[in-house]
Amino acid sequence: MQCYVINGGRRLSGSINVQGSKNSALPILASTLLVKGQSVLHNVPVLSDTECTLKILRELGCVVKREGDTVIVNSENATGTEISEDLMREMRSSVVFLGAILGRHAKATITTPGGCEIGLRPIDLHLYAVRRLGVRVDEAHGKLCCTATKGLKGCKITFSFPSVGATENAILCSVTARGSTTVVNAAREPEITDLCEFLNSCGAKIRGAGESIITVEGVEQLHGGEHTVICDRIVASTLLSAGAVTGGSVELVNTNPFFLNSVLPVFEEMGCNVRVRCNNIFLKAPRRLNRVDKIITQPYPGFPTDSQAFFTTMAAVADGTSVIVENIFECRFKHVAELVRMGAKIRAEGKVAVVEGVERLYGTQVQGQDLRGGAALVIAGLCAEGITRVTDAGYIDRGYTDLCGDLCALNADARKEMQK
Ligand code: UD1
Repeated sequence: MQCYVINGGRRLSGSINVQGSKNSALPILASTLLVKGQSVLHNVPVLSDTECTLKILRELGCVVKREGDTVIVNSENATGTEISEDLMREMRSSVVFLGAILGRHAKATITTPGGCEIGLRPIDLHLYAVRRLGVRVDEAHGKLCCTATKGLKGCKITFSFPSVGATENAILCSVTARGSTTVVNAAREPEITDLCEFLNSCGAKIRGAGESIITVEGVEQLHGGEHTVICDRIVASTLLSAGAVTGGSVELVNTNPFFLNSVLPVFEEMGCNVRVRCNNIFLKAPRRLNRVDKIITQPYPGFPTDSQAFFTTMAAVADGTSVIVENIFECRFKHVAELVRMGAKIRAEGKVAVVEGVERLYGTQVQGQDLRGGAALVIAGLCAEGITRVTDAGYIDRGYTDLCGDLCALNADARKEMQK
């Protein structure tokens, strides 16, 4: 395993491109199973999670080719209906294949994904959605055997919570079902809209993506298509936070400021000057950030849980006390104990963290324990005095194609090396 080594104290400055969205690429890649023909996808980031998704597609019988950021999938002969346990374990979000395999073959076998670093992550809402569409789910020995003996049939699916993954599975499973499906209390994340745009370009009939009610008119089959994955809004907020904690000035090019509507005002509240021009965002940070009154994570368009850890780091070095409430996942404050080891003053209990800003953090060895929490520690290292080592880089590399390279391009002193 590798670790990140950061020599803190340099002001970040410069301009950088934002990679394609992991959370868009994963369901879109899974959805190519529904396409009879060739799907050409651009801006697919090279990450351990996207590579695992390509392995699953190959296991299911697709022919997959990667040329840089472009992935070409031919699923003409994809006869597989089962994902092996190894691949299911490698990546929890492989559960999104459930809807895609069912949509293609009306039967699917997967392993129960289980919990992960940031919380329990049950899949009851995913199973509720596919059951509503006529699927019988048998659970035994850690396996879920799903079959729709009479085929998939359109229905009304009302979610008790707007789960991103369950909404994606409901869409994937209903695209080629008989009749029409309505998804009520659907997740509204930009990644859902991106998935629907790709599917519609292949002949699907989905309306309402990005809203709380989505309707899917089932079609016979989907034809091939070509699509460019949207930029990654979480990576965008990572790079902006890195600029902010160092008192720097950074410009993100080729991003979509609209996706960051709930995040940019918080940078401003913390004293940053944020300017948006077309697809570019420019942030200039003050010497010291201001406290933020309260950050509450919520489903989109609320403040994203995936950006919470970066703002905890920012609050840790801000002037005054900030309150952060994590409403989406149960175990998403693991970075807090590590920030405290670097000199931060944070008390976290249950959903709430109270962050009393300190003048300075100090470099030491800290452990990355999940993707965004790990990235938040790298950000902390950028403004800390001395050397910070963030271990277990594998977590971070699930979501960033080259975080070190991006930060160095912005004048940071950071590198990756083998962990001792
Ligand atoms: C997706 C994102 C993840 C992001 C999250 C919330 C991907 C690959 N991952 O994860 O980065 O942090 O959205 O924006 O797109 N829940 C249930 N039962 C279910 C499903 C979910 O109780 O059947 C709960 C979860 O445990 C969690 C909450 O709902 O507490 C949100 O989960 P969900 O929106 O499903 O997130 P993911 O799709 O797993």
